[in-house]
Amino acid sequence: MILGRRIYYHRVIGSTNDEAKRLAEEGAPEGTVVLAEEQTAGRGRLGRRWLAPPGSSILMSVLLRPRMEPGRVQKLTMIAALACAEAIEALTPLQVQLKWPNDLYVRGRKVGGILTEVGVRGDRLNYAVVGIGINVNVDFSDLESPMVFLSVSATSLYNELGYTLSRPDLIREILERLDRKYARLKEGHSFKAEWESRLLNLNREVCVITPTGEIEGVAIGVNEDGALLVRTESGIETVWAGDVTLRKV
Ligand code: BTN
Repeated sequence: MILGRRIYYHRVIGSTNDEAKRLAEEGAPEGTVVLAEEQTAGRGRLGRRWLAPPGSSILMSVLLRPRMEPGRVQKLTMIAALACAEAIEALTPLQVQLKWPNDLYVRGRKVGGILTEVGVRGDRLNYAVVGIGINVNVDFSDLESPMVFLSVSATSLYNELGYTLSRPDLIREILERLDRKYARLKEGHSFKAEWESRLLNLNREVCVITPTGEIEGVAIGVNEDGALLVRTESGIETVWAGDVTLRKV
């Protein structure tokens, strides 16, 4: 197993992704994992903040050094999301769906997300850091909690299960699965079908807000590289980045 050969554990850190990137620049080997109980500058996609009460969640970054074009790293997000979904399902009775491009959903609410960031040298990928945030033992329904404002759109495994879950067990399950999927990815395996089987909003009318404008149509799947496929009036659009909402029809 490559992942977890080195594990750095922090009680408090700015962002595990930033720390993994710093270690990567110093030459840390593939498979290095950074874990934290608390982040003071946790980040989500599109520069959003990632909040989690201390000691409640999985805040983890995994350093990978695949031979891959920088533009293909969504494949790493794909395998990380699948590993997390399968790990949660192995340890709980919950079912996990994936909201393109990087979200883990349980019963229609977000329970976690993946943030993959890269370091490039020239036009080559030097490293990728796959950041994993999962709301494990957070109580979003606690009215005293500063997190309660998130309870409309976010949930936690605790809120869905009604009991707390061992974070070390979940971390181990995720790393073992991610390790196997990473090996298969390098052998050329496609994760398209596995992703589509969990894709939230599959075959639904969606609106995708992309950096270059809005795309309306039916979400019909993802391609091998993890781009979203949307059937529009003018044909099938391949969407590389964006935010998906259900279309009000
Ligand atoms: C998202 O849903 O937008 C992605 C969230 C990713 C959060 C994780 S927590 C561990 C790692 N460190 C960070 O600063 N972010 C990621």
